[in-house]
Amino acid sequence: MNAHEQNELHTIEISLFLEGLFRQHGYDFRNYSQAHIKRRLLHRMKLMDLKSISQLQHEMLYNPAALQQILYDLSINVTEMFRDPSFYQTLRKEVVPLLKTYPFIKIWHAGCSTGEEVYSMAILLKEEGLYDRSQIYATDFNQKVLKTAKSGIYSIEHIRDYTQNYQKAGGRESFSAYYDADYNSVIMDSSLRKNVVFADHNLVTDGVFAEMHLIICRNVLIYFDRQLQDRVIHLFLSSLAPGGVLCLGNKENIQFSSWANHFSVISPNEKIFKKLYSSPDSMQNG
Ligand SMILES: C[S@@+](CC[C@H](N)C(=O)[O-])C[C@H]1O[C@@H](n2cnc3c(N)ncnc32)[C@H](O)[C@@H]1O
Repeated sequence: MNAHEQNELHTIEISLFLEGLFRQHGYDFRNYSQAHIKRRLLHRMKLMDLKSISQLQHEMLYNPAALQQILYDLSINVTEMFRDPSFYQTLRKEVVPLLKTYPFIKIWHAGCSTGEEVYSMAILLKEEGLYDRSQIYATDFNQKVLKTAKSGIYSIEHIRDYTQNYQKAGGRESFSAYYDADYNSVIMDSSLRKNVVFADHNLVTDGVFAEMHLIICRNVLIYFDRQLQDRVIHLFLSSLAPGGVLCLGNKENIQFSSWANHFSVISPNEKIFKKLYSSPDSMQNG
């Protein structure tokens, strides 16, 4: 079989695999980026010493342990505290003044993984005097990462990097004021969790969170194809209050979505957008 034929076969097998995963187990990865899915499935196939994706499909359908492993493979959970410090600097400068105008602030972290970005936001809000009037909803569709997020316990290995990120992000205290450490791990101060609800939410199949002032969904859309990105951006548009702010990861954009004209750009580099007060359609109609 030549490389082209092999490629075609993979495309067919992947499509059947994803259809089976959805119909048998209800997990819908059908509109995730093909390149990402293919890389992860071929990797798992190798580790399990299987000859084809069809064999992996058999495991996915009949072997619960293999299913869990495959689900874990398909979702990338890499994250860190104050990831991309310049994003948090811009948030302080451009978005916090807007948030200060609200008596009560509702924030949604979609695809929060193990929660590092949620604790980062809680720290920023505390330092800006906004935490007590904020409610944060932190969601992911992966139960395992949500459990870590709720516990607020992280390996001590990363703390040096996180401290540097915090300082570069414009942090005003000593980062160690926000956690207790023992030999191997740190536990984040429980006051940072006081106004946070961690919940299971699937961006592909679940509905809106209404009237949010700020939505942060960073490094999640990158795994979706154009069509799914479009659907999820519409979900965010419907979940935002007028004038609400949407933050994406630095490799993501709304530029190509059908909803781009419903937003203005706050920061092109940090991918921060603001929902317009009235929809472009209503402006056109007078
Ligand atoms: C690379 S992590 C990004 C974490 C964090 N937002 C950050 O930027 O550091 C992507 C997260 O998106 C979650 N995710 C992927 N597809 C999802 C979906 N359909 N619904 C909800 N969460 C999803 C994954 O479980 C994972 O935790």
